[in-house]
Amino acid sequence: MPHTITLIPGDGIGTEVSKAVQQIIDAAGVAICWEVTDARGDIENHSADFMQSPVIKSILKNRVALKGPLATAVATGPPSLNVQLRKALDLYANVRPVENLAGVASRYQDVDMVLIRENTEDLYAGLEHTVVPGVVESLKIITEKASTRIARFAFEYARQWGRKKIHAIHKANIMKMSDGLFLTSIRKVAEQYPEIEYKELIIDNACMQMVLNPCQFDMLLLTNLYGDIMSDLAAGLVGGLGVVPSGNIGEGCAIFEAVHGTAPDIAGKGIANPTALLMSAIMMLRHINEAQAALNIERALQKVYKDGKHLTRDVGGKASTDEFTGAVIRQLRS
Ligand code: NAI
Repeated sequence: MPHTITLIPGDGIGTEVSKAVQQIIDAAGVAICWEVTDARGDIENHSADFMQSPVIKSILKNRVALKGPLATAVATGPPSLNVQLRKALDLYANVRPVENLAGVASRYQDVDMVLIRENTEDLYAGLEHTVVPGVVESLKIITEKASTRIARFAFEYARQWGRKKIHAIHKANIMKMSDGLFLTSIRKVAEQYPEIEYKELIIDNACMQMVLNPCQFDMLLLTNLYGDIMSDLAAGLVGGLGVVPSGNIGEGCAIFEAVHGTAPDIAGKGIANPTALLMSAIMMLRHINEAQAALNIERALQKVYKDGKHLTRDVGGKASTDEFTGAVIRQLRS
């Protein structure tokens, strides 16, 4: 039986990298019936009743989606489509594994960590208003329920994947109530997992520690905003956003997506690197119990990087998207 999976190609380089990933998954022998949706058009046409839009219905039915990047205007315009999708589907856990890929130049070797970011609240609730002209208030929402839920997810993830240590990242010395609640909620959960070492770090110190010695981290557990920033920082230590994946996981469904954006500067030129979306697809394949195909693609990808002859420009090569994709497919078939 083929899997039916929702595909949101996205904007900019999204169509180029998602086509490459489809070709590679096909070559790996996984039968997938892709339900391709235009998230932007769907959401804009159903702004009054978002839950009835075809993209939401498709993901709720299939329970899994692979998503390319969607553009968001800065400072003006409607809320981010990415944030709207995560909220509508209650995809509360953002999982970002960060590790070195041999062949990609980076400041450190032996980085291997997973960042777990709470995905539904914090300053991302988007609750902003003008109090009086010249004064804007932005509300940071932290609840015990969401903090406990993400903590439970992180500790269960650690158990499942054999991770040994979790650092909760906070600024509870200043935001004593909100970040304080995040911490007290996590501590209660941590007590139930004595085999997993639990530590806390203030966000500013955590950033410095991350830059000085990223290999000390195993898992990090963060609120939405800190998670967004620190996961990009971590990605920068292993070669950048082009080589790290992510998954947005909820109780009912999941969306796997690259962490990078639409790359308008290179869109349409055929030179985008599909690695991040491919790595997200590898996470997705494990999620749908296609572990062997995931491993085969992972090994093929690693060989192409080690070999170094068919890499795209962002990682120091000269290959086009198609040449890189062809090299991964040849490795898969060899
Ligand atoms: P960006 O990630 O699109 O680009 C930053 C730099 O990285 C650019 O030089 C770009 O060419 C390069 N780059 C990114 N992905 C690449 C790839 N796969 N291969 C080769 N080079 C790559 O970030 P930017 O410019 O800040 O954002 C552009 C748009 O993307 C914005 O509208 C933003 O809102 C959106 N965005 C969407 C995300 C999502 O859908 N999850 C995440 C981040 C940004």
